[in-house]
Amino acid sequence: MFPEHRMRRLRSGRIRDMVRETSLSVNDLIYPVFVNETIDKTCEVASMPGVCNIPVDEIADDAKEAADLGIPAMILFGIPSTKDEHGSSAWGDDDVVQRAVSNIKEELGRDMLVITDVCLCEYTSHGHCGVVDHDTHEILNDPTLPLLAKTAVSHAKAGADMVAPSGMMDGMISVIRSALDENGFSDIPIMSYAAKYSSSFYGPFRDAACSGCCFGDRSTHQMDPANSDEAILEASLDIEEGADIIMVKPALPYLDIIHRLKTEFRVPTAAYNVSGEYAMIKAAANKGWIDEKKVMYESLLSIKRAGADMIITYFAKDMARMLK
Ligand code: PBG
Repeated sequence: MFPEHRMRRLRSGRIRDMVRETSLSVNDLIYPVFVNETIDKTCEVASMPGVCNIPVDEIADDAKEAADLGIPAMILFGIPSTKDEHGSSAWGDDDVVQRAVSNIKEELGRDMLVITDVCLCEYTSHGHCGVVDHDTHEILNDPTLPLLAKTAVSHAKAGADMVAPSGMMDGMISVIRSALDENGFSDIPIMSYAAKYSSSFYGPFRDAACSGCCFGDRSTHQMDPANSDEAILEASLDIEEGADIIMVKPALPYLDIIHRLKTEFRVPTAAYNVSGEYAMIKAAANKGWIDEKKVMYESLLSIKRAGADMIITYFAKDMARMLK
């Protein structure tokens, strides 16, 4: 009770640093990258200033720059030159992500942990995350599973250190785990997009990855933003199926979910600070309405404070530079 207690005593000078509960380190950061097979020079994504589509030949240099900043990991999204109904350019040995992974691994070896996003939406002509029924336009769960398994194995063969299934198909973690094990990749971990919400914050990503849907939306498989208990169930199933790391996505509007999952399961938990979260900060900063660097730092720190162990963020390089 006041006046015995004065909270301000520990708020200034060096003691402020000493009582800080949360810290942000470069080791917390995962750098997301769009590798694009249809371009021959790097081009910026209009709705994500500072974020680029990178050609396969230049990806290793970009990864090197991230590694030099001390960033330990990156996650790759591929934009293929051809798309079809089944997304078959997702799993070929010479497809965009497979080539990018091997280029990065050749350049950096163990100095960069390469994670690959495993989903079909960038590879299907209709832009959906799975096989679609012609007549009903339904996204078919079970026929999609073997395609995801095949894609994950092809990424591992190319040298990926970890796979990150993001398609929100039921049972995907278990089929991917079995397929990896059967093909000699039992040491490759799975980072599951466990609580992935059907969010309007993914808008700029769909521009960047050319993965918008030409009909319908993703609400039949991604979660309802109104739900929180459901995230617990989703994550528990993924952990049972073999997920090594669980993810919450988006991050800032879902800090409560990050906190609940971390508290409930105590397993390594990632958060995805998505494209819309990035774009909003960039746009407001560009107008001079907020201080970009300070808002970036506060946002990422808040995600850690909520319970995330690692953060996928388009600010990775900027944040790493600031921490240096
Ligand atoms: C699916 C995928 C998406 C994102 C990451 N993986 C898009 C979607 O579900 O539509 C969005 C990430 C972001 O907005 O930054 N492959």
